[in-house]
Amino acid sequence: MPTPAPVARIELAARPAPFIKWVGGKGRLLPQLMPLLPSGVSHMRHVEPFMGGAALFFQRYPVRALLSDVNGDLVETYKMVRDRVDEVIDALGPLADRHDPDRYYRVRERYNASRASSDGPERAAMFIYLNKTCFNGLHRVNRRGEFNVPAGRYKNPRILNDAALRSASIALRSAEIVQDGFESLVARARPGDFVYMDPPYEPVSTTASFTSYAKDGFGQDDQRRLRDVFDELTRRGCKCMLSNSDVPFIRDLYREHRIDVVNAPRAVNCNGSGRGKVAEVVVRNY
Ligand SMILES: C[S@@+](CC[C@H](N)C(=O)[O-])C[C@H]1O[C@@H](n2cnc3c(N)ncnc32)[C@H](O)[C@@H]1O
Repeated sequence: MPTPAPVARIELAARPAPFIKWVGGKGRLLPQLMPLLPSGVSHMRHVEPFMGGAALFFQRYPVRALLSDVNGDLVETYKMVRDRVDEVIDALGPLADRHDPDRYYRVRERYNASRASSDGPERAAMFIYLNKTCFNGLHRVNRRGEFNVPAGRYKNPRILNDAALRSASIALRSAEIVQDGFESLVARARPGDFVYMDPPYEPVSTTASFTSYAKDGFGQDDQRRLRDVFDELTRRGCKCMLSNSDVPFIRDLYREHRIDVVNAPRAVNCNGSGRGKVAEVVVRNY
């Protein structure tokens, strides 16, 4: 048998996948998104400026990537999983054997008292524990930046999956990970990058608000600024793909680009209604 040619990617024990739940996560849309990637994408750097759970990044497991998000706690957790996964797993072990509200609120207090600079892996473990056991996997902080989501009602949540964390860690080694707002992309993106933009969505109705991802919401002015970034990256020679809700405001912003519709099963919104399928648009400049 001839020896297979070496590949840049390491064979993983578990397929890389998001290790946190994230509102707006693209997991269930991947079968519809993958066919929309540009041809030759495997040679391009994968750039995701609204990484959240980074479902598309993990599905692709690219050779080079730039991941960013405005949420600093999320970004620090990714860096710890990439750089110090054994310590994260060791710290998560003792938290993971059961879930009850008393433990949840004690961990939440300890997490809010911890600092990314000194408590790195332990704080990342607490972030993962809270994400798996809080109400609906939400991430919400108060004005002081303290995580304040109540406990979720789970009988037996899977809190520690060490094979999945190790696979995620290996996949992330190809990635530069930065905390930043999406506008910094203009300075970082290079011609030939593939850029996937999955911002907080424009609400479908005035009651269905998806704007509580970060301390400051994401309003129509942000959507317009993002469109300007999309256009600037287009001029610069990046291949851009963007997801958003299928509403006239978004269709109008991107009317000069190619627009496809995909159907998303949507599980979370602010008032618990609106479950079922929701149409989303995928905008592309190629
Ligand atoms: C729809 S989620 C992304 C979901 C992700 N594609 C996934 O698969 O899980 C949107 C993300 O945008 C981030 N975000 C909100 N405002 C931002 C901004 N101004 N710049 C960069 N990221 C922002 C949020 O923290 C959140 O993680």
